[in-house]
Amino acid sequence: MAAARGEFTSRFGFVMAAAGSAVGLGNIWGFPTQAASNGGAAFLLVYLALAFSLAYPALMAELILGRHAHANAVNALRLISPGTLLRRIGVSTGVIGLCVASLILSFYAIVAGWMIAFCLASIAGLLGLEGFAQWLTSFGAPRNITFMLLFMTLTIGIISEGVSEGIERWSARLMPALLVTLVLLVGYVLTLDGAMEGLKVYLLPDFERALSPKLIIAALGAAFFSLSLGVGTMLIYGSYISDKENLPLLGGMVTLVDISIAVLAGFLVLPAMYVALHNGVEIFTAGGTLISEDTLIFTVLPELFSTMGTAGIIVSITFFFLMSIAALTSSISMLEVPVAYTIEEHGVSRKKAVWVIGGIIAAISTVILFNFAQLFGLVIAFTTRYSQPLLGFMFCLYAGWVFNRNTLLQELRKGNPQVEQGLFWKIWPWYVKLVCPLIILAIFAQSLWG
Ligand code: PHE
Repeated sequence: MAAARGEFTSRFGFVMAAAGSAVGLGNIWGFPTQAASNGGAAFLLVYLALAFSLAYPALMAELILGRHAHANAVNALRLISPGTLLRRIGVSTGVIGLCVASLILSFYAIVAGWMIAFCLASIAGLLGLEGFAQWLTSFGAPRNITFMLLFMTLTIGIISEGVSEGIERWSARLMPALLVTLVLLVGYVLTLDGAMEGLKVYLLPDFERALSPKLIIAALGAAFFSLSLGVGTMLIYGSYISDKENLPLLGGMVTLVDISIAVLAGFLVLPAMYVALHNGVEIFTAGGTLISEDTLIFTVLPELFSTMGTAGIIVSITFFFLMSIAALTSSISMLEVPVAYTIEEHGVSRKKAVWVIGGIIAAISTVILFNFAQLFGLVIAFTTRYSQPLLGFMFCLYAGWVFNRNTLLQELRKGNPQVEQGLFWKIWPWYVKLVCPLIILAIFAQSLWG
């Protein structure tokens, strides 16, 4: 089995793939719009604090366990557990993680499908195909299902190619393209009237709001979702890292890239909202709250783009293309979780596993689409707001309490012989054992009773 396992062939390839997984709809759409509806800079501050103090240590727990076991989450947690009970809990955590990853993909494919549809709609508009553009941007079952299936097929196609040929090659191509496009868009939007007002909302914090339980739990979910934590994605990517690499450094690079792109996307979306407002587009409801998050990008931004004349069409194509790319490098990492498990646990071929599991997830997406009002928001809240931080909590407990300290040190020494002298070894082991689990629990307790 070991011989058949893939591995990232370069450090750049791994960082691009892991950052590709981390950077997605969560950063470019979820984070900025949540920041906008939760007090702008206040949300930004809490998000930054939680990302560095909780999400980075939790990411390290997954990367270390993954590389140590060179296996999927289920096998990794089983491997490090000494007794039957701990093994059972570990295996259940891994299995729940892979179910949550599949459920995340089932709603993600829907939203990503819309991104592709909106990108094509702008191209159709450019070609004068107004009717087609109209169909592409209107909410309807045929459109939703067509583009969800198209997105799932792209994801399946990449994943069936394996680790270095599929995940690594595509992420290394797509991620730099994404960064460049984002920077250009930010530069453009900041020159427009109204942008400065959005910038103020984004950068001037209201400290009273920063302490509200609702804001903190939203920021926690956003940080865990953004770094792809809790569902075994990062553990699986960690299992493909070569033993020569210095893990804390790689994890730090991925965290920095992810957070920077989220913060950068805030510089695009918040000013863009106020530019739209300046141009007469409604972005607030009568009650003064922000129009809901799904509508924000799919209503306000196209309207914003359309006020920019011909340039707006180009900006619109670029923006939705960027969103589709970001979604694809994340979705491949979600599908890899159940696929790697099925290959390693049941000896099924990669192609077969990918198509069967991809098919099941597409079927779940179809069910969600036919019961949209009841299921869509529910699946998002269940998976991202509750399951991810709680599963992340379990990974911290296993890395901190169950994983043998000497084995842990050996694992870290592999890519960094001096690790014992460094700050990481002095802080992380007790931090992930005590501080991370306690803060996650405290935030949950506060949100339940607060
Ligand atoms: N991190 C991704 C994003 O920000 C989402 C994701 C969650 C990816 C869980 C993989 C696993 O969009």
